[in-house]
Amino acid sequence: MEKNSFVREIEELSRNLRIDFVKKLHGFDSLDSTNRKAKELALAGAEEGTVVIAKVQTRGRGRFDRIWQSPEGGVYLSIILRPNVSAEKTSLLSFVAALAVTSTIESYGVHSTIKWPNDVRIKGKKVAGILLESEGKGQALNYIIIGVGMNLNVSVTQFSPDLQSHTTSMIAELNQPTEISDFLTKFLLQFNFYYILFKENRYESIVNQWKRQSDTIGKKILVRTASGTMDGIAFDVDSSGFLLLKSTSGDVQKNHER
Ligand code: BTN
Repeated sequence: MEKNSFVREIEELSRNLRIDFVKKLHGFDSLDSTNRKAKELALAGAEEGTVVIAKVQTRGRGRFDRIWQSPEGGVYLSIILRPNVSAEKTSLLSFVAALAVTSTIESYGVHSTIKWPNDVRIKGKKVAGILLESEGKGQALNYIIIGVGMNLNVSVTQFSPDLQSHTTSMIAELNQPTEISDFLTKFLLQFNFYYILFKENRYESIVNQWKRQSDTIGKKILVRTASGTMDGIAFDVDSSGFLLLKSTSGDVQKNHER
């Protein structure tokens, strides 16, 4: 069967890309979830820098087991990483991904911010989401999958009505489509840049850049955690990427939700 143009475009990009950490891009016309596929490849021994990209997802995964609506025109990718790092620092990898997304968006002349922990927004509307999944025992992590979903050439009307008022896309902001290969190249270059900082243990630098790009610090927020909700003023983020919340009674709590 002849390969479709999306898969061919990703294969060509994979051959031509010269980015240190990227080993291979695997393109698919349709997948249930790129995170699920990346996990399968990681368990079969795929090396760090393997990237799975799908044109559409039929069961994209969001945080808290939500469905990530993944119509054609979006970017759905998962990166396999195998960093030699303590489990405590892995939350910072979602900062790495969020910074890579915001820098990529900025390179098109559009300002974007990060809402805790890693929603990327344009004028307060969500344009991208990040889902980190890892496996390993204790402190030794086998692999980490960083899943990134971005609304690129997707009209807001392609999402369900409940999402439309707080969702945006690059095409909605730019009034013109963005070439997927161009966007992927810029994103992977940016990811490489921030991942090098991570591998060099330059955590402060990552956190400081995250804070500059964030629209959460200084705000009164309600965060959903695996065990319930927490509210207070988000006043800082520590060097492991934990959000520090001050409640009305002055107690300080750490939130380690990814
Ligand atoms: C969120 O809930 O904000 C996170 C959404 C993450 C979606 C991406 S799309 C590519 C990758 N594959 C998945 O199944 N999920 C992530």
